Amino acid sequence: MKDWIFTLLCAVLGAYFDEEGCDVENWIKFDKNGLKNDLETKLYGQHVAAEVILKTVTGFMENKNPKKPLVLSLHGWTGTGKTFVSQLIAENIYKKKMKSSFVHLFSVTTHFPHKAHIDKYKTQLQEWIRGNVSICPRSMFIFDGMDKMPLELIDSIKPYLDFSDNLDGVSYRQAIFIFLSNAGGKMINDVTMKFWRDGKEREEIQLKDLETVLSQSVFNNEDSGFWHTSLIDRHLVDFFVPFLPLEYKHVIQCGLGEMARQGFTPDNNVVKRMTDDLIFFPEEERVFSLQGCKLIPNKLRFYIP
Ligand SMILES: Nc1ncnc2c1ncn2[C@@H]1O[C@H](COP(=O)(O)OP(=O)(O)OP(=O)(O)O)[C@@H](O)[C@H]1O
Ligand SMILES: [Mg+2]
Repeated sequence: MKDWIFTLLCAVLGAYFDEEGCDVENWIKFDKNGLKNDLETKLYGQHVAAEVILKTVTGFMENKNPKKPLVLSLHGWTGTGKTFVSQLIAENIYKKKMKSSFVHLFSVTTHFPHKAHIDKYKTQLQEWIRGNVSICPRSMFIFDGMDKMPLELIDSIKPYLDFSDNLDGVSYRQAIFIFLSNAGGKMINDVTMKFWRDGKEREEIQLKDLETVLSQSVFNNEDSGFWHTSLIDRHLVDFFVPFLPLEYKHVIQCGLGEMARQGFTPDNNVVKRMTDDLIFFPEEERVFSLQGCKLIPNKLRFYIP
């Protein structure tokens, strides 16, 4: 009886103060069409990632009884849209978007900088995940710079990613984990470049063309502890999602979009001048952008008269 009164009181007070709650009626409503539309119109040049993300996130969100949390690992060169896509996912699930108290963003190098403090980080991270999932099962955890995450720390979150009814009375099956890294980026670039050299359309590239090289390259990468853990062996990651290097035309699209976002009328000449000053590879043919679209928000202003 007491519990019931407490819950009611929280709901009334929460509604009164417009405080975010863990409920599907008001705060956590998955917008499938919104995500589809965002991936189609705001994300450029990532047909493989867009399809995998839409299918897996939709499937997971529409599944009333998932057997394990959704775990996605996004890979690719810098500035190709990995962080951007994780924001689009959050925006179409949580009304408060990235500001939601149910979305947790960790930057590995910022949050876990010192090897000597690893035991403290382990405890804090586990408590953070457990505490937050017990408050709201539909919580989202984004780990940026996963290739720099110490092995022990990855080990410490493995139980939460696995199939399990519950751990210490908490069920993690509704949670979403997204790992971001540059690991495998070089391999993805090589495959994309080979398609281009062979005169094939970029859109012909399929997930299977990249999956094998991606898993081979990450398995063979001695530097990144991430790959040597049982995350892969035990299939805890549902999908490895490749992000292709962006071409000249995608950078132009980013520039025009960014101009509008900054309150200017999109101007092809301005964006073209800016893009021409960026570095592309291979050096001679200038096909793929070395920094993706990363520098655009800051560079653009310089080119606007
Ligand atoms: N494919 C894309 N489509 C549209 N915009 C993009 C794309 N890639 C990057 N951008 C733009 O560039 C900015 C930087 O991209 P983002 O932070 O997502 O790169 P990243 O892949 O996470 O790079 P890093 O590996 O360096 O973290 C984004 O905020 C977005 O505005
Ligand atoms: Mg990023």
